[in-house]
Amino acid sequence: MTYPIEKIRADFPILAQKIHNKPLIYLDNAASCQKPNQVIDCLSDFYRQDYSNIHRGVHTLSQRATDKYEQARDKVKKFINADSEKEIIFVRGTTEAINLIAQTFGRANIGKNDEILITAMEHHSNIVPWQMLCQQTGAILKVAPINKQGELIYDKFESLISDKTKLVSVVHMSNALGTVNPVKKIIAAAHAKNIPVLLDGAQAIPHMSVDVQDLDCDFYVFSGHKLYAPSGIGVLYGKQALLNTMPAYQGGGDMIRTVSFEKSTYSTLPYKFEAGTPNIADTVALGAAIDYLNTVGMDTIAAYEYELLIYATAKARQIGGLTIVGDAAEKGAILSFTLDKIHPHDIGTMLDSVGIAIRAGHHCAMPVMDFFNVPATARASFAMYNTKAEIDVLMEAIQELMTVFG
Ligand code: ALA
Repeated sequence: MTYPIEKIRADFPILAQKIHNKPLIYLDNAASCQKPNQVIDCLSDFYRQDYSNIHRGVHTLSQRATDKYEQARDKVKKFINADSEKEIIFVRGTTEAINLIAQTFGRANIGKNDEILITAMEHHSNIVPWQMLCQQTGAILKVAPINKQGELIYDKFESLISDKTKLVSVVHMSNALGTVNPVKKIIAAAHAKNIPVLLDGAQAIPHMSVDVQDLDCDFYVFSGHKLYAPSGIGVLYGKQALLNTMPAYQGGGDMIRTVSFEKSTYSTLPYKFEAGTPNIADTVALGAAIDYLNTVGMDTIAAYEYELLIYATAKARQIGGLTIVGDAAEKGAILSFTLDKIHPHDIGTMLDSVGIAIRAGHHCAMPVMDFFNVPATARASFAMYNTKAEIDVLMEAIQELMTVFG
């Protein structure tokens, strides 16, 4: 079957515009990707026809909104193959999910001199919440190193698992480098010592099928806005048995069973972790994004994006003075690079002037920049709607920059 690229592009109205009189080429998908009509329409239809608060009302709209919200939970459950909808907690995004785990699972299970093991390629959101927990408890953050290709040095990682390790928290796919980690191997090694594993799936989830039961991860977290859904909605998956042992996170409405001034009791999963009125409409729209992805198929998308990555990488290698940052054998659709004599921010600005959107900066991964001894990189990140023709335009623009400024 040929990949339905024309149809897909037509579904994303924002792509049809010009920026500085040039057709927009949107290659900043790792920061946030664009939304198809199916998601935009779902959101506006929901506000036009079905919106109300949920779980509280006996009236028709409240019932309808509740049904749609819970249907979205079921869609997420199926999308990642969780065992139960009780394992799907809606949060604001990956960052909130990791903070939730640190402050509930972490506060309950990680104490003085215990260790949390991460890798040197983590996003700040998988570093800072653990540093905060370490300050609160006296625990120690251990960091497994990476090599010059941007791959985890697996033996070193394994040797850092100790009797004191209480949690392994690893990125599934690096946002700064594109590296896809050997997560099944990591999980098996941690489980051999009864250590739970959290996977930061923010970058992986839009690019590959994720089956949490097959992975056997204990937690998997991701954001909707990188998955063609609105911003402000994300998912924390946790194994039911583990979530049940964790204390509640925020207190408030909807997460309780009974409240008196002496004592409150809490609701069951997943509501125990969803205090207050949630992000109702964006959750419903996340369900629409998942429906949309399912019509194309995650394996089909993964194969298409891999072709884009291989094509872009081969072209980038032909440009003198361009250095690819992150050259792992297992890699997702992200191309980070630097150009001799041109600062990444200038690359970003100059590419914008010809309609090309990339990200330039430290990508919320300052330790990765330190490791590669660069202040920042330029990053082109691909999505299901990008094309080889767009990559050609990007590479010609970079070549032009090198000719004029390099
Ligand atoms: N974490 C996002 C990125 O990589 C914002 O750009």
